[in-house]
Amino acid sequence: MTIIVTGCAGFIGLNFTKYWLYEHKGDKVVGIDSFSYAANVDEIYELCEKEHNFVFYRADICDKVKISRIFQDEKPNAVVNFAAETHVDRSIESAEKFLMTNVVGTNLLLDACREYGNVRFHQISTDEVYGDLPLNSKKSFTESSPLLPSSPYSASKAAADLLSLAYYRTHGVPVTISRSANNYGFFQHEEKMIPHSVKSLMRGEKISIYGDGKNVRDWIYVGDHVKAVEAILLNGKIGEIYNVGAGYEISNLELARKIILCYTESSDAAIDEYIEFVPDRKGHDRRYSLDTSKIKNALGWQAISDFDEELLKTIKWIGEKQ
Ligand SMILES: NC(=O)c1ccc[n+]([C@@H]2O[C@H](COP(=O)([O-])OP(=O)(O)OC[C@H]3O[C@@H](n4cnc5c(N)ncnc54)[C@H](O)[C@@H]3O)[C@@H](O)[C@H]2O)c1
Repeated sequence: MTIIVTGCAGFIGLNFTKYWLYEHKGDKVVGIDSFSYAANVDEIYELCEKEHNFVFYRADICDKVKISRIFQDEKPNAVVNFAAETHVDRSIESAEKFLMTNVVGTNLLLDACREYGNVRFHQISTDEVYGDLPLNSKKSFTESSPLLPSSPYSASKAAADLLSLAYYRTHGVPVTISRSANNYGFFQHEEKMIPHSVKSLMRGEKISIYGDGKNVRDWIYVGDHVKAVEAILLNGKIGEIYNVGAGYEISNLELARKIILCYTESSDAAIDEYIEFVPDRKGHDRRYSLDTSKIKNALGWQAISDFDEELLKTIKWIGEKQ
């Protein structure tokens, strides 16, 4: 089949593209990316040179003419939409780009899917659309939990989810959605917590922690996420949403300590010397937690990677990239 991967130069989109080219050698992957600041440009040029079944278009998903032409020329069987503005802090500074790419861009892709014969569409979403839970709560979000996004970023992602479901209901576009926990692994932009913390240590600076650092995130290795998307694309039920998480919940402070331990090999007692607390992010979500029993029971997928092992590899990769 021919599969369009938008945001193919971004962290998760690139991991997915590489995985799909390796695991589905008979398929053609059509990458689309506008090459924003978050893009891994060199990796895409390398893929273009090495992989005969990969083609790349530098295009904005909000560019209707270009996107229509790509659909016309490539006749895709499926679209996986990773393209997005993704950094919460940037969305707090200004939400405009987030609304354009994450909402208008997704809508435009859905229109293209509709126009070219109801092409299969998979929307990559986030656990942040559910909002947060109190730290002392034992609850986890299921796919039917209400949407209560806190940041402009998560609000734009929630809007894209609702649009996707509306296109399924109204136009019959075969849509699925995955809502993933925080990802880590190779090719993540350095503005995100793990690469940012490692880079700070590399420069001899302290790791900045928002507020009291007790905010809890559910972390999943990007390789597990990619396989969950594969399972949904191949066997997911049309019109359904699937939570994708590893159930590895850890506070930002605990994560920073783990990174410091891996990077500096310091004694437990010295760890806190590498940390500085900074004023909290506005509207900062306290805890994310996903119930992933639906995807486990329906598709047999579950995260299998070991957090400490993959974190160490990721930290080494960030160090070697310099
Ligand atoms: N990173 C995470 O922890 C995480 C967790 C849950 C969900 N997600 C979702 O996964 C998807 C990918 O996230 P990521 O971390 O890889 O993001 P990223 O910021 O690393 O990459 C996004 C990619 O999209 C491209 N892009 C941005 N605007 C575009 C546009 N208008 N047209 C075409 N391309 C455009 C960028 O150039 C970049 O290559 C996003 O939809 C995000 O909401 C991410």
